[in-house]
Amino acid sequence: MCGIVGALRKNANVVDFLTDGLARLEYRGYDSAGIAVHNGDEIKRVRRVGRVQNMAQAAHAKNLTGHIGIGHTRWATHGGVTEPNAHPHISGGLISVVHNGIIENFEAERERLQALGYEFNSQTDTEVIAHSIHHEYSQNGGDLYRAVQTASLRFHGAYAIAVICADDPNHMVVARMGCPLLVAFGDDETFIASDVSAVIAFTRKVAYLEDGDIALLSASGIETLLDKQGNVANRNTKISELSLASLELGGHSHFMQKEIYEQPKAVADTAEIFLDGGFVPENFGETARQIFSQINSIKILACGTSYYAALTGKYWLESIAKIRCDVEIASEYRYRDVISDENELIITISQSGETLDTMEALKYAQAQGHKHSLSICNVMESALPRSSSLAIYTRAGAEIGVASTKAFTTQLVILFGLAVTLGHLRGHVSDEQLTNYAEELRLLPGSIQHALNLEPQLSAWAKDFATKPSALFLGRGIHYPIALEGALKLKELTYIHAEAYPAGELKHGPLALVDENMPVVVIAPNDNLLDKVKANMQEVGARGGELFVLTDLDSDFTETDGVHIIRTPRHIGVLSPIVHTIAVQLLSYHVALVRGTDVDKPRNLAKSVTVE
Ligand code: F6R
Repeated sequence: MCGIVGALRKNANVVDFLTDGLARLEYRGYDSAGIAVHNGDEIKRVRRVGRVQNMAQAAHAKNLTGHIGIGHTRWATHGGVTEPNAHPHISGGLISVVHNGIIENFEAERERLQALGYEFNSQTDTEVIAHSIHHEYSQNGGDLYRAVQTASLRFHGAYAIAVICADDPNHMVVARMGCPLLVAFGDDETFIASDVSAVIAFTRKVAYLEDGDIALLSASGIETLLDKQGNVANRNTKISELSLASLELGGHSHFMQKEIYEQPKAVADTAEIFLDGGFVPENFGETARQIFSQINSIKILACGTSYYAALTGKYWLESIAKIRCDVEIASEYRYRDVISDENELIITISQSGETLDTMEALKYAQAQGHKHSLSICNVMESALPRSSSLAIYTRAGAEIGVASTKAFTTQLVILFGLAVTLGHLRGHVSDEQLTNYAEELRLLPGSIQHALNLEPQLSAWAKDFATKPSALFLGRGIHYPIALEGALKLKELTYIHAEAYPAGELKHGPLALVDENMPVVVIAPNDNLLDKVKANMQEVGARGGELFVLTDLDSDFTETDGVHIIRTPRHIGVLSPIVHTIAVQLLSYHVALVRGTDVDKPRNLAKSVTVE
């Protein structure tokens, strides 16, 4: 969602950094962009609805230059997609602010500030921040840091903000509460960003701020940093390992295509955690052995694709580790009465690590007395792993396409590794079985590679889907979550309505939808449920529905009129859902190409969902 960048450079113009940084944050999803730069005399601002590139052209046309500046990509929450609502916001020509997050009490604050004589030019909650800081600044005799400190005491909600002041061309104040913000250090230059991908073309030295931190920055670095309690604090500087190549297309047409093709490596890198380190609790954190030996059940909280990973993981956890596992959509869990159980392990799954609903669900679980939590996450140092007792990172690398692909398959690898680890620890997996599971994991990247070779066949299918108003995805058992993921991918990439059902549920309602206009994708691996799935397919065929069957090399299907078949590699057993995922990803990608939709940035969606 929204993105923040900022820079203080002693010897260079900041505009190039600000526009480059915002372009690197485009993947998060946004609808308008803007920058504000102090040119030595005053703060100049450019904002535009639409792409960063348009805004960057306008900034160059206006000859914007300066040694200090802030920038923002906005994803509308309070107020429509308009230039007046775009950030940065300016109060009294003096204070300029960019903001991620939501100020929940902005209406009351707006009334208070209006009574003080402030006029509002936007419908945003952010303008409240700008005026509030302006007010405190005028009251305290011109101390920007203290103005941010005092004003922020009034803000309820989540925010990351960066503030510059026309009176001071050498300093910036940043504050964080609930939304990520980092400071990065170059030679005589300091940068800030909500996401490390915005800065790594300039420097890899980064320090992550913590909730409640307020920092005064100059081109030399952090001059003052006070924590939530008002104590002087230090945040460790780390060297980011994110590769620049992962942020570029590298010959592919879209990031989604690149990321689909990166899966053999991403899965192999993630599998290495268990293949090199063994299926041992220590992979999940220093205290994992002790925590794993205390727990008697698991609850997984997640949203979207990560929720479907959780649904798949439940099958492995219950069948391999023999541990009860419930899975819940985070946004539902956080608002219901729950029964606390200190021996239940709460697992959150998130690519970004900053999905607000998942974060709040974790906080809620902890407040209800859940002692143990594990975060499965792709983004290092993000909010969820930092708030959990245990953490393990998928090794997918940066995922830029809004639709999740390699994050999902690597989450599955971790969940499988967790199931085997717990199974062994709890005495349900013998040493011999452990060796077999390791072998299956070792062979997985090769099977994914084979599935990628099916692209031409899936692209041929895509033409049949592109003109249809809806599609149905069916699966059974552990492949039902993959049907759900297939339907989600089709919806978000192509805007075709798609639904997924457990195949056995068809006759209880959705069969009424089936006619010759409804393509039905069936995930039908050669497992113990194949005969059941075949029976469900008969139900579709008898109603004139057209079947698109994803099955394995060794299953005994024959293609007939109205039954199209694509064979993924030979059935690989327990890890089969991961291979079938590749096929549904490629299908949706190709339907999107035929329909000409924006593959990497589907309409209305954002990569990191940091609002409710
Ligand atoms: C779908 C997709 C979303 C995310 C969801 C959770 O392709 O990407 O459904 O999976 O918004 O995001 P994370 O995993 O970052 O918590």
